[in-house]
Amino acid sequence: MKGIIVYDTSYGNTKKIAETIAETLKESGIEVDLFDVKDVKKLSAKDYNFLVLGSPTKFGTMSLAIRFFLGKVKSEEWMNKPFAAFDTENPENIERAHIENKEWSAAEKIAERLRDKKMNQLLPVLKVLVLGQKGPLKEGEIERTKDYARELAIKLKRGKD
Ligand SMILES: Cc1cc2nc3c(=O)[nH]c(=O)nc-3n(C[C@H](O)[C@H](O)[C@H](O)COP(=O)(O)O)c2cc1C
Repeated sequence: MKGIIVYDTSYGNTKKIAETIAETLKESGIEVDLFDVKDVKKLSAKDYNFLVLGSPTKFGTMSLAIRFFLGKVKSEEWMNKPFAAFDTENPENIERAHIENKEWSAAEKIAERLRDKKMNQLLPVLKVLVLGQKGPLKEGEIERTKDYARELAIKLKRGKD
């Protein structure tokens, strides 16, 4: 089994989360390729069994580069394959979403797009908290990410049997 993890980042926080997910999946015996979205030239579903996609939250949604990347995920190729989505966002964003009862998370919007492509969402999205625009990550977020990736590994292995 081999997956692809794709992320966008301006200040390195989302990259750090993508790297943590990649390392944790590898520790669980799952092969992954990790790409900055800018480096993905061609995306072939034949090479991969699953997709993990992450974006910084910008103006309540995913970055433009991730939006563009989603256009390369063709439903006829990726249909039924598992996916997980994550984002980085500020704690105030969660509060705002709660108060307004409206979704402002990049990951939720990515997940919606991938479900529309008939991909199979393995876990609820991971929303990682970043303090301010440049970070740092809120304390404990790396550990929470490792827990998420371990759970993801279990789901991926279960799906394979
Ligand atoms: C132009 C811009 C818009 C942003 N809009 C939001 C937002 O709507 N909600 C939010 O929680 N964070 C917002 N942020 C903060 C980003 O989520 C934060 O910079 C990002 O998580 C950092 O990730 P990175 O280090 O990978 O770039 C915004 C940041 C920038 C630069």
